[in-house]
Amino acid sequence: MQQMQRRGFLQWLTGLLGAAVCSVVGLPGVKYLLESLGRGRRTARVVQRVARLADLTPGRPLLVAVTARKQDAWTEYAQHVVGRVWLVKSGGDGGVQAFTAVCPHLGCTIQAGADGKTFVCPCHRAAFDAQGRRLPSSATGQENHAPRDMDALACRVVQDEQTGEAWVEVTLEQFVPGLRHKVARG
Ligand code: FES
Repeated sequence: MQQMQRRGFLQWLTGLLGAAVCSVVGLPGVKYLLESLGRGRRTARVVQRVARLADLTPGRPLLVAVTARKQDAWTEYAQHVVGRVWLVKSGGDGGVQAFTAVCPHLGCTIQAGADGKTFVCPCHRAAFDAQGRRLPSSATGQENHAPRDMDALACRVVQDEQTGEAWVEVTLEQFVPGLRHKVARG
């Protein structure tokens, strides 16, 4: 009887020690996972100055990177690329449009077309005109897999407080690929 009680006590003690060890070992991992998820949410929408207005040539799209601070378990990156954006300056009023470089078909990175004015996706040859509008198959002679136009981003020209230079500021967002309509990722 006494032996059974002792065995029960030892099992209880072993369980208690096991739980304590799991807490010590597991909690930092859970904390890191939650922090990573939180960081992922924070970089989903980034407002950033990405180019001087003077760097843009009318009718010549310019691909720029949007960066953000990122930290993994051991390393901190001050300039981690979180997205790429096409900027298009119009020849008329000099206004600037911004489009995410993420293809609305399946998410590959959209490139400039051979003419340097339009856009193509290298993965399945989706094609867009100079304003990011989806080109019909009749214009390219091949099926356009993009379900919608390139995704436009909020964009404005701001004055630098110190230098007075004009900069293009964009708001980078992520959108759900494969849909006919533009839907922001939650
Ligand atoms: S991912 Fe761009 S065309 Fe398919």
